[in-house]
Amino acid sequence: MKIGAVDLPTPFAIAPMAGMTDTAFRRLVKRHGGCGLVVTEMVSAEALTRGIDRTLEYAEYTEEERPISIQIFGGDPVKMAAAAQIVEGMGADIVDVNMGCPVPKIAKHNAGCSLMREPAHAARVIAAMTKAVRIPVTVKMRAGWNDGERNAPTLAKMVEEAGAAAIAVHGRTAAQSYSGSADWDLVARIAGERTIPVFGSGDCIEPEQILARLDAGVEGVIVGRGVLRNPWILAQAADLVAGRPARPVTVADRGRFLLEYIELLLRERVDEARAMSHDRWIVNKLRALGSWYTKGLDNGSHLRTAINTADSLAALRAIIAEFFSLDAAAVLS
Ligand SMILES: Cc1cc2nc3c(=O)[nH]c(=O)nc-3n(C[C@H](O)[C@H](O)[C@H](O)COP(=O)(O)O)c2cc1C
Repeated sequence: MKIGAVDLPTPFAIAPMAGMTDTAFRRLVKRHGGCGLVVTEMVSAEALTRGIDRTLEYAEYTEEERPISIQIFGGDPVKMAAAAQIVEGMGADIVDVNMGCPVPKIAKHNAGCSLMREPAHAARVIAAMTKAVRIPVTVKMRAGWNDGERNAPTLAKMVEEAGAAAIAVHGRTAAQSYSGSADWDLVARIAGERTIPVFGSGDCIEPEQILARLDAGVEGVIVGRGVLRNPWILAQAADLVAGRPARPVTVADRGRFLLEYIELLLRERVDEARAMSHDRWIVNKLRALGSWYTKGLDNGSHLRTAINTADSLAALRAIIAEFFSLDAAAVLS
C-alpha cells in the first residue's frame, strides 16, 4: 500500500493518541511487527511555528519508526502550511492534519473536529499545505460534528480535490466522543467513493476485526485503544492476512513489554526543570498505559490498582515482575 510515494509495509497503523503513543511506545509496537505506519501524538501548528521546545518533544521520532507521520492541529491555512514545512524539515514521511479532536480546548480554536463544520475552509487549509510541501498531506477526521452534521463523505471529497494523499475516518461524531460505536458502513462508503486510500478507525480490539474491516472495503485500518490493550494486535492481524494463525502472546511477553517500556522511557529526553523528575514522569506514563493495558487481563484491576499506587520505578518494576511472574533483573540483563 502507498500514500503518495510512501510505501507502507502493511495497511495497519498505530492511531495517534495524545499522551499515549510516544516514540518509546511506538518503537516497541513496531518491533513486534505488522505495523505499516506510525503517527505521532498531535502537535500544535501554532507552537511548532513558534518553536516551542515542549511541542518539538511530541514530534520526536526515531529512524526505526519509519514510515512516520507527524500529526498537526490548527485552523489557519498560512500557519498550517508553515507548520507542514517544519514537519517536512524534520524529516517526516507524511504530515497529517487532525480534523477529529472533539476536545473544546482544541475545537474552539477552529482546529480539530470544528474544521469539519467549515469544509470549504478545511479544504483551503489542505490546499495551502499541499502547495507548501512535497511530502504527502493526509487528513484524519470523524464521521462529522454531530448526528445532524455527518458530513465526512463531503469533506473527504473536498480534501481529496484539495490534494490530500489519504484520509482516515473515525466513524464517530465529535458529539459522540467515544460513546456508542464507530459507523464502519459510513467509512466503507467513503472508501468506495474516493480514489485516494481511505483508512478506517474505531473499535478494533481483536485482530480478526481488523481483517473484517479490510474485507468491508477500506484500504487500511488504524488501531488505537486496541493497541494499548494488546500491542501485538497489528502483528497478529498481519499473521492472519498471511494465512497464519495469530501469534500467541504469553503472560511473560506482556510483562516484558512493560519493563522494556520503562527502560526506553528512561532513555528519553525529559525537561526535568519543567515540571517533574524523570522517574515521576515514567511512573505517570505507566499509570496512563496501565489503565488500558490491564483491560481484559485476568486480575487486571489488581494490576491497575497496584501500578497506580507505585511511587517509584523500583516499586513499579517489582509489581510488574510479581504480577507476570518475571525476574525483572533477568529480563533486562
Ligand atoms: C487517549 C486517546 C488519545 C487520542 N489522541 C488523538 C490524537 O492526538 N489525534 C487523533 O487524530 N486522534 C486521537 N485519538 C483518536 C484515535 O486516533 C482513534 O481514532 C479513536 O480512538 C478510535 O479508534 P480506536 O477505537 O481504535 O481507539 C485519541 C484517542 C484516545 C483514546
